[in-house]
Amino acid sequence: MPLRTNHELLTLAKRGGYAVGAFNTNNLEILQAIVSAGEAEKSPAIIAVSEGAIQYAGLPFIVSMVRTASDQSSIPLSLHLDHGKDLDIIGSCVENGFTSIMIDGSHLKFQENMAITQKVVQIARKKGVSVEAELGRLKGIEEKVSVSEREAFLTDPQAAEEFVKKTEVDALAIAIGTSHGAYKFKGEVNLDFERLKEIAQRIDIPLVLHGASGVPQSVLEKAERFGAKLPGAKGIPDDAIRMAVSLGISKINIDTDLRLSFIGAIREVLTNKPEEFDPRKILGPGREAIRQTVQAKMRLFGSSGKAA
Ligand code: G3H
Ligand code: 13P
Ligand code: ZN
Repeated sequence: MPLRTNHELLTLAKRGGYAVGAFNTNNLEILQAIVSAGEAEKSPAIIAVSEGAIQYAGLPFIVSMVRTASDQSSIPLSLHLDHGKDLDIIGSCVENGFTSIMIDGSHLKFQENMAITQKVVQIARKKGVSVEAELGRLKGIEEKVSVSEREAFLTDPQAAEEFVKKTEVDALAIAIGTSHGAYKFKGEVNLDFERLKEIAQRIDIPLVLHGASGVPQSVLEKAERFGAKLPGAKGIPDDAIRMAVSLGISKINIDTDLRLSFIGAIREVLTNKPEEFDPRKILGPGREAIRQTVQAKMRLFGSSGKAA
């Protein structure tokens, strides 16, 4: 089926009280793993591609692989630029078949973030492409941090309301204490659900949670058993994800858990079968491990069965 926009996928998710996973891909194997997980779970999925992924694989390869996957697939998929910062790359994505764009101006001052977001909305609207913006910075809440320090990087609900009204974006990524990567908390898990609740009361568009990987113990243990060194890795517990969805998160971004699953499986083959040199016998198990992880996420987010 043809690619959908995030606006379409997330409107349904918000109405249905579930979240759609945005899974990062950089190559054929990761893409196939995400799509086959979606088919097994009858779940929609957002194929997320970062500027780094475009640099790695090349825009034409990304677009044609995702289009082929969507044409062959029975589930709704969108092709989304994750953390777009460069206006030239954003323009190329809009012109070349992406159905959703994220403009990440979260590092800028409020007015500047708003100005660049408005510009991207103007570019994207002409082609019917959805836009996600980000307000607040992704950073774990340290135990010793003061209230004023915390206020400086978490999303301010009142500012978020003004931002959405003035930019007319389709979705907003907010900061409530999650962060990217495998090291999210030094101590206890600390997320500001009260803030999420207040933002959800003020804002009518779908909300997005970045930095949502769980760094599951089983995945971490397997990677470490076969030589990975990831001391202190810690993610967002499943219960916190359920809570976030129940409070109004409609899109959840996952990359780290895919990477960890992939390297665990690959390390296992390389360790147990040192004579193996067929890339398919090495990458295949990596692809299978990602498929299983993505299926578990779809069940956790409540999107399983929503593409039926
Ligand atoms: O949040 C960023 C994603 O994990 C993509 O990471 O920029 O290394 O491709 P990347
Ligand atoms: P994780 O690093 O927690 O997987 O977050 C990914 C993400 O937010 C991509 O935009
Ligand atoms: Zn992100």
